[in-house]
Amino acid sequence: MNHPFPVQQSIHQRHSVRSYTGQPLSPAELNQLKSYSQSLVNPFGVPVRFHFLEHQTAAEGEKLGTYGVIKGASAFVAATIPPKPLALEALGYSLEALLLYATSLGLGSCWLGGTFDRSGFADAIHLVEAELLPVISPLGHPRDKRSPGDKIARWLARSDQRLPWDRLFFDQTFSQPLTEARAGRYATALALLRLAPSAANRQPWRVLKLGQTFHFYEQQSMKEGRQGVDIQKVDLGIAACHFGLCLEEQQIAGSFICATDGQAEAPPHTYYRFSWQARE
Ligand SMILES: Cc1cc2nc3c(=O)[nH]c(=O)nc-3n(C[C@H](O)[C@H](O)[C@H](O)COP(=O)(O)O)c2cc1C
Repeated sequence: MNHPFPVQQSIHQRHSVRSYTGQPLSPAELNQLKSYSQSLVNPFGVPVRFHFLEHQTAAEGEKLGTYGVIKGASAFVAATIPPKPLALEALGYSLEALLLYATSLGLGSCWLGGTFDRSGFADAIHLVEAELLPVISPLGHPRDKRSPGDKIARWLARSDQRLPWDRLFFDQTFSQPLTEARAGRYATALALLRLAPSAANRQPWRVLKLGQTFHFYEQQSMKEGRQGVDIQKVDLGIAACHFGLCLEEQQIAGSFICATDGQAEAPPHTYYRFSWQARE
């Protein structure tokens, strides 16, 4: 599949941006984002709805709140889902694809699952009762210099670091790490998965390779949040997006499937979620 943006380059360029210039998105930028969002499908088969908010469109003109975490953002995108199995993973996949596309346009973004005024945003997008609003992201032109708050947030989450390969990827069993050499043609996609953003940078993804199938597990380390949301399922969807889009760009054919389980004894607090299977 041809993507309208360079996937690997955008993954390398993306990072959380919390300081913006205040310059509004141009009508062309907003149109590009909206039209790409309408073209998005995810492998989990659950619809994800995107709501674009320019600052002035917040309920009764009030500023949309992020508890001071985000400075100078001119617009936001909120993503909503029905309360269904795999909806959080679908949201992670689709919103990350949109934010990578925004990166390719030179725009900044930042996943926010905790530090935003959920009820203010819910009012602004006229959230219907049956839907969940787990996350939002600002969209805008990044400032050259990070604000002190941005620097502190990055330092607290150790945002520039990722766990080593041998803590994330496994070969046949969870007792045997998958080396880059053994990953073969999948090494680039796994390296890009490793760069995925995650809530509090916990990196809950664990991937087990069995033959040409990759089983994705969630190592749960956070309690459920509001609306009973396990935000780490969103992280798993983001990881699937990096892995899946990279393989599509490399023209390595396969698809995500939900097996009944990952066929391996998993470590404590580690739960099977879904798999990616190569097309023979
Ligand atoms: C699902 C999700 C929720 C997040 N929620 C917040 C948040 O509430 N506040 C915040 O400042 N950053 C939040 N982040 C950003 C992470 O802290 C950040 O992605 C991580 O530290 C890695 O840094 P990077 O995005 O620059 O690579 C969230 C990220 C994800 C994926």
